[in-house]
Amino acid sequence: MAILPISHLPQDSVLRQKAKRVSIIDSSIQRLIDDMIETMQEAKGVGLAAPQVGISLRIIVIRMPGEQPMAIINPEIVEHNGEQEVTEGCLSVPGYRGEIKRSAQVTVKGKDRQGKRIKIKATGLMAEALEHESDHLDGKLYIDHIESQDKLYNVERRISSERGENL
Ligand code: NI
Repeated sequence: MAILPISHLPQDSVLRQKAKRVSIIDSSIQRLIDDMIETMQEAKGVGLAAPQVGISLRIIVIRMPGEQPMAIINPEIVEHNGEQEVTEGCLSVPGYRGEIKRSAQVTVKGKDRQGKRIKIKATGLMAEALEHESDHLDGKLYIDHIESQDKLYNVERRISSERGENL
């Protein structure tokens, strides 16, 4: 396994591209998933999408606190309901947090790393992470959901307000 360099705004345009679907889940995809999980854990993130390591493919990894990491290939949000207000950060936008609205509940379909079809229904942080990482696959970042500039803040200057996960 290897720790991959994480792409940051504004220099990396791969973050703004629509990623391609994975058609064959082979050993190179397995290796990429392993490396993404290691990279996410090393960066203390809760989620990571392949474009964040410079690879424009529809693969995300998520690790909820206290749980095993998981990968979803070609994830698709098939249903979303309600609304939750969250404070969110992104490993590709270091040093910032933003207050945005996410769906309270999402249902995602995709494939696991063995290529088996999966369907996940989630709320709370998991729903937030699934939306955040799916956004990455369409070239979107959480900062695109910020409604006013005072909802985005530099965490280095506001340590006491530091909360929210990096996704
Ligand atoms: Ni992110």
